[in-house]
Amino acid sequence: MGDASLLEEVLALLRCPACGGQLEFLEQAEGRGGSPGSFRCLSCARVFPMRRGLPDFRIPECFTTSNRLSRALYNIYAPLYNRLENALARMIWPDFSEPRLRREIAASLELGPDTSVLEVCVGTGGNLPYIRARTRGLLVGLDISEEMLCICAHKVKQMDLGTVYLFLGCAEYLPFASDVFDRVLIGGGVSYFGDPGRALAEAARVATDDGLVVVFEQSSLIERLLGRVDLPLRCLPPDLKVLERRWLFGGSFYLLKLAVGKS
Ligand SMILES: C[S@@+](CC[C@H](N)C(=O)[O-])C[C@H]1O[C@@H](n2cnc3c(N)ncnc32)[C@H](O)[C@@H]1O
Ligand SMILES: [Zn+2]
Repeated sequence: MGDASLLEEVLALLRCPACGGQLEFLEQAEGRGGSPGSFRCLSCARVFPMRRGLPDFRIPECFTTSNRLSRALYNIYAPLYNRLENALARMIWPDFSEPRLRREIAASLELGPDTSVLEVCVGTGGNLPYIRARTRGLLVGLDISEEMLCICAHKVKQMDLGTVYLFLGCAEYLPFASDVFDRVLIGGGVSYFGDPGRALAEAARVATDDGLVVVFEQSSLIERLLGRVDLPLRCLPPDLKVLERRWLFGGSFYLLKLAVGKS
């Protein structure tokens, strides 16, 4: 966070995920709970440290059993994710194509040249090049798994995607101000969130009025057997309205496009 204007931009964007308070950046270690490069809430005084170069906004409230499990599983799976995920999908769905899938996801966001985007569940960043190719706007990624997000950070540098802010955090307690993103993509995992209703309400909160929230998810046999394919529809907050649900690759994935309309 050396650059003063970048820091200003980030501070304007961020809020305490616990109480919504404004944050300050602690350049130096200060007092109790402070460590160099951490953020501190000006309202509740919670401190959010840097972990492996990434600001960590995961709070204990987020770690329900299923979110704990997701974090642990994705931390283990992270080194294999990019190599295995595509191969597994092609084994299960022979017509699967990762570039086609990611193009469809990016297209569903209806991006203009300056559209701002938050991807919740950004993982290793597979969608980011496809999103960046369509917008020069603010691009932010968030994930609960530090191992997935470290790979993402490496990819952002390697692929020269410009400024992409990455944060450790959880979908149910987003560390962002209200009304800041034109588009919010929940890029996979909604079926296993600890509290999908809360995560959708958070996506709507941080999206601009008249913005779009897009939920991408797979609907494999497991999600069907668990009865989770319609989960986001069952817990939609009042300020999100269904525009479209599109099935991809013969119903193996869906894209749920939601209009934000705050009363
Ligand atoms: C299927 S991966 C998708 C990654 C990426 N969007 C992609 O398309 O390759 C799901 C991601 O969601 C993250 N995740 C799961 N539950 C989460 C939660 N409650 N909050 C934030 N991230 C979560 C996991 O760590 C994982 O990286
Ligand atoms: Zn706070």
